[in-house]
Amino acid sequence: MHDRRNVELKARDRDPAATLSAALAHGASDEGVLHQRDVYFAAPEGRLKLRVQDGGAQLISYARADAASARLSSYRLVDVPDPDALIAALDASLGIVVEVVKRRRLLLWQGVRIHLDDVDGLGSWVELEAVAPAGSDLSAEHAEVAALRAILHMDDDQVVAEGYAAMILASGAATQRLVDRARTAMDRAYVPYSHFHVGAALRDEQGRLHAAANVENGAYPQSQCAEASAIGVLVAAGGRRIHEIAVMADTELIVPCGGCRQRLSEFADGSTPVHLCGPEGIRRSMTLGDLLPYAFALKSAPE
Ligand code: THU
Repeated sequence: MHDRRNVELKARDRDPAATLSAALAHGASDEGVLHQRDVYFAAPEGRLKLRVQDGGAQLISYARADAASARLSSYRLVDVPDPDALIAALDASLGIVVEVVKRRRLLLWQGVRIHLDDVDGLGSWVELEAVAPAGSDLSAEHAEVAALRAILHMDDDQVVAEGYAAMILASGAATQRLVDRARTAMDRAYVPYSHFHVGAALRDEQGRLHAAANVENGAYPQSQCAEASAIGVLVAAGGRRIHEIAVMADTELIVPCGGCRQRLSEFADGSTPVHLCGPEGIRRSMTLGDLLPYAFALKSAPE
């Protein structure tokens, strides 16, 4: 296990063949194609993924701030002799967030790793990674990345800050697991007075899922909706934003009550998907903006 630092940059690749020839023409060496499967887990702190790659596997724990400019990341690597067993153990204890499967052509140019990636469900991307030696002030790494960025025509409008996992999540990869979590919570609802079971599940900005149920009280007004319970779980786990919402009840169409629409809107925005579910699955999907137009917010006036 050791600490390392990188300067990284990632962009959509509109013409992978042209990018490959530009890199080779400027003296990059072609190290061949790697087949990589990254499994992301719901770590309580930082990020945790297991990479299975052509006969080997490593657990990678890292922290990274999303930023569109070339960024710095620090991480730890642990060799894993039995990846399937570790994936099963971590799935049972933490939960899998998402999987990313890709073919990566690796090139090297003046100490910078160039990744030409073909990612399942996401298409082609080019990634630059300058690994910094201990004690570096990173200026040399930033300069190399900038030079290579010009050679490979990585234009501003193609550069992205998000990782592949976040992009796959945004396209709905975790929705089924979110619905399953809402069902488990619904089944555990404490509802001796109304007998109306509700489960709510939320996906946070790190891809983690948080679920909870309604909790009633003999002093009826002290009862709490499932959505409010789930927001508390998300906040206590360090989450600050809601990227996807599932609410489930065994009724024709469960919709969050007015108060909960406002509660959700504190952490989500108008475009956040909301899935209205019955025990069998999603019945209708809409956005929080559909449910709560003209949402009240202290900071910005409604349009
Ligand atoms: N309930 C929720 O949990 N979420 C909603 O959005 C609507 C209502 C709960 C509160 C109470 O325990 C029961 O449903 C009946 O109102």
